[in-house]
Amino acid sequence: MKPLLIRGGRVVDPASGQDAMRDVLLRDGKVAAIENPGRIHAADAEVFDAKGLVVAPGLVDIHVHLREPGQSYKETIATGTAAAAAGGFTSVCAMPNTIPVNDTPETVRWMQSPERGASARVFPIGAATRGSMGEALTDYAALREAGAVAVTDDGKPILGDAIMLAALRAAAAVELPVIQHAEDTRLTGGCSMNAGALAFRLGLRGMSVEAESSLVERDLDLLRQVRRGHLHVAHLSTSKALNAVRAARRAGLHVTCEVTPHHFALTEESVGLYDTNAKMNPPLRGEADRAAMIEGLLDGTVDAIATDHAPHAAHEKQQEFERAPNGITGLETALGLAISILHIRHRMPLAGVLALLTSRPAQAVGLKGGSLSAGSPGDVAVFDPAARWVFRAAESRSKSKNTPFDGWEMQGRVRLTVSQGRIVFRS
Ligand code: DOR
Ligand code: ZN
Repeated sequence: MKPLLIRGGRVVDPASGQDAMRDVLLRDGKVAAIENPGRIHAADAEVFDAKGLVVAPGLVDIHVHLREPGQSYKETIATGTAAAAAGGFTSVCAMPNTIPVNDTPETVRWMQSPERGASARVFPIGAATRGSMGEALTDYAALREAGAVAVTDDGKPILGDAIMLAALRAAAAVELPVIQHAEDTRLTGGCSMNAGALAFRLGLRGMSVEAESSLVERDLDLLRQVRRGHLHVAHLSTSKALNAVRAARRAGLHVTCEVTPHHFALTEESVGLYDTNAKMNPPLRGEADRAAMIEGLLDGTVDAIATDHAPHAAHEKQQEFERAPNGITGLETALGLAISILHIRHRMPLAGVLALLTSRPAQAVGLKGGSLSAGSPGDVAVFDPAARWVFRAAESRSKSKNTPFDGWEMQGRVRLTVSQGRIVFRS
């Protein structure tokens, strides 16, 4: 593989606090050197001109559904990671709600095999309970040994108090976070959107804010009983749950959380007249909750932007609202939405936005990536922070096109993505 010299760009690396004009040399899959402009001489290298562009660590998404094994008509590890590369992501954590559920070291290894043809690093997350049935714990030590970076039953909550406490204890013993999909499903049966006036008008049953916040509060109570336990709250969507996390963090608990781009970009109004591309779980909430997500991102309470990339086939989404599956794709729109909304509209420094997409998610699940210095992995995202562009779902690398952002204009466009020293996307 030829070395790659990324020349003349602005290196922004939140992990090391770097924000300066630098040349970056990638060699043998690693960052070989980062130097002042013009200082690196590598006659054998391919040169990429990054003038006017930002050079950042490859983005890290700790919540994606790659659908393999078992549902390759929606997505494969190859197509999902191609979409990741197009979005600037070089590391993705794959949720275990596959078919079969990823609850064994064999499946963890299968997902990481080179035969899957991934264009980004894939870090599987193991199921917290066997078959994600909520009854018996899986073997956390074995899952970890095979390469799993966390445990979760995402798609569903770990509901019972005793099993959640046991999961937190067992995960703490092997230093894995427990990721909770915080939804008290005893309160959300038959619900398909946020509870409120709009659901009432549409004749749909609504999920209350409390269905999320009460489970987060329960989990924090359990976490208090576990020495060195780490709870990570997935796709947090309500002000009430965010406040619970904020208070627990202040009290010294090891709790982290993520927010999706759709929960800081959209409200339930996007459901409109039963648009199934605005149906996901947790649902889009009201304006006060959306504003609270922005606040949590700005003030540091939220650790990560995670997409919850959830591809579904067209025939599945083209059904009555209540029958359509939950979820939207998200890998190719995350950076543009984060720059447009957090950086441009809310004046968050670019380094802060990038921290939410690199070092902080990496830290939340203990990944090595998410930084850019000599010796670090050769995972790089190069983007034009000023370029305005229109996202077209039809041109997506994902196998599925279920997105509410089709036709959206956004600012911040990926120009080059490098995974382990290899160019995996270029535009
Ligand atoms: O919207 C969602 N889609 N939420 C989940 O929890 C699961 C996911 C999926 O797997 O489609
Ligand atoms: Zn979930």
